[in-house]
Amino acid sequence: MKREVMTFPPDLIEALRTAHHVVVSTGAGVSQESGIPTFRDGLEGLWEIFDPEQFATPQAFARQPDLVWGWYEFRRAQVAKCLPNPAHQAIATLARKVRRLTVITQNVDNLHERAGSTDVIHLHGSLHAPICASCGQSYMMSANDAQAGETGGRLPPPTCPSCGGLVRPGIVWFGEMLPEEALERAQQATLHCDVFFSIGTSVVVYPAAALPFMAAEQGACVVQINPEPTGLDDYASFSLVGKAGEVMPELVAAV
Ligand code: OAD
Repeated sequence: MKREVMTFPPDLIEALRTAHHVVVSTGAGVSQESGIPTFRDGLEGLWEIFDPEQFATPQAFARQPDLVWGWYEFRRAQVAKCLPNPAHQAIATLARKVRRLTVITQNVDNLHERAGSTDVIHLHGSLHAPICASCGQSYMMSANDAQAGETGGRLPPPTCPSCGGLVRPGIVWFGEMLPEEALERAQQATLHCDVFFSIGTSVVVYPAAALPFMAAEQGACVVQINPEPTGLDDYASFSLVGKAGEVMPELVAAV
């Protein structure tokens, strides 16, 4: 059976061919096809299974550091077993076809980098860059040395070699500010881009959710890729309904 070739609006292809700066903003949906669960998709979303109050707040870490550290080590171990999917790869390929491309991701995995993207801003931190909860010293952890087993469970966090404090996951938790420099770079890229992609995000968590609206306001062509409706539907110049791993490779091939 012959597979149908996707067709894209000529204006979208033209916008990409002539763009000076493309921004690709990604959320958990981009890593979903790699086998990493999203946060708010039906009954399988992480926040349906795990109470964010127990795992994703500074208070939770202060109360039960072993539980929180063990959970993030479990997630880091999951990521190590996953591979970048065609969406991550297509984004890296697009960067070679346009003058400049910046990835702004809310994802804490490293799949964009492993697919070959080089200009990646992690707005919500990274599973691979924990920080000392006392002195703020940051550490890099390699992608495949997570200590957690198949189910997670409690694991004592390491202590900081500099000050002896507890090392915590380098993730932005509920009630915390985004890393200032990352947010500033993301906003600057958004204010100066001509094409802005919003891929695989529910567009509900601020300030990341403000970026596509900021891009639309300054006149950029805003392209959404998502199988489900979001609050951006009525504002996007193009809303492509489908999975990122299916739509993105075909779109990039057409550029
Ligand atoms: P969500 O789980 O809120 O949304 C995932 C989005 O991806 C939904 O709109 C889905 O429809 C879409 N989606 C699912 N599969 C897809 C696929 N194959 N291709 C394209 N889209 C797909 O995840 P985020 O928007 O990333 O923050 O959530 C934002 C933040 O909320 C996360 O970074 C996390 C969470 O609390 C922190 O942990 C700091």
